[in-house]
Amino acid sequence: MDSLYLRISVTDRCNYACRYCIPKSQIRYIPHEEILTYEEIEKIVSLFLKIIPISSIRLTGGEPLLRKGIENLVKKLKALDIKDVSITTNGYFLKEKAKVLKEAGLDRINVSLDTLNEEKYKRLTTYGDLSKVLEGLFEAKRYFSKIKLNTVLIKGFTEEEIDSLLRFAAENNFEIRFIELMDIGIFNKKDHFLPVEFVKSYIEKKYGKLISLERNSFGPAKRYFLKSLNLKLGFIPTSHNFCNTCNRLRLSADGKIRLCLLNDLSYNLKPFLRGAFDENKLLEFLKGIIKIKESMLLKLKKDYCKENMVRIGG
Ligand code: 5AD
Repeated sequence: MDSLYLRISVTDRCNYACRYCIPKSQIRYIPHEEILTYEEIEKIVSLFLKIIPISSIRLTGGEPLLRKGIENLVKKLKALDIKDVSITTNGYFLKEKAKVLKEAGLDRINVSLDTLNEEKYKRLTTYGDLSKVLEGLFEAKRYFSKIKLNTVLIKGFTEEEIDSLLRFAAENNFEIRFIELMDIGIFNKKDHFLPVEFVKSYIEKKYGKLISLERNSFGPAKRYFLKSLNLKLGFIPTSHNFCNTCNRLRLSADGKIRLCLLNDLSYNLKPFLRGAFDENKLLEFLKGIIKIKESMLLKLKKDYCKENMVRIGG
């Protein structure tokens, strides 16, 4: 692994309750005092930098813009010379936050947008407000040239939304990405899975050929250009694996590192951060984590890469 892509969850709170995201069981929030401070996050990042270059950091949640002073964390990360710092947000607070985030040095924004129909948006997100998000997007457009829309594919929901989402993305010069549903929330895969192949062939029939683009080095999306709309779009399958090129680590809001989205195994950094703080011990621990991730990749390259395998600790 020659570089690291770090995803940092800055809070587990969210002002939305999207049906594909809220867990089936009761949510237990992490107590406030358990959540990493910005200084602790900065420390972890700077120690990782002693081990491996970090190509990209994405701030996620919950809803990252709910965390007070999030722009201060962006500033700290940019000061560590991370070239690409981005945020994934539901867009609800973007109108208020776009300018300060730009000033803090944020490079890119991804906004979740699954429909442009107000009523369907509300039904999907529970507490969402589409018009507020659209205002947020328009404000963000003034400051950011790279904005992506994330659309989760839901059978019986997304089919009717594709045309308006494509047109909206094209009109505003946003890139749009269609993401296959994962079995996290109330929508289960059995009833609601809509494959990217469906959307691809729908688009090709109606709008013409999708021209293949370079894969973005940061992620699993297969990207295309659609000439008739002058639009870039991407597809993220979850049914196929892309483990062997995965350089991602995830840091949870309470300081646990996960090696794989589909694997619950985690490494708790807290004992190294609080109490008797020992920078060298933390550094060694992080080195160990990178080693394990690398050895996982080697194994996966030898063709162990099945989703189930990853689930059980491959
Ligand atoms: N399946 C696929 N993607 C999901 N997201 C959240 N829940 C799911 C799911 N069940 C993605 C959405 C959102 C981002 C924060 O996480 O794309 O934009």
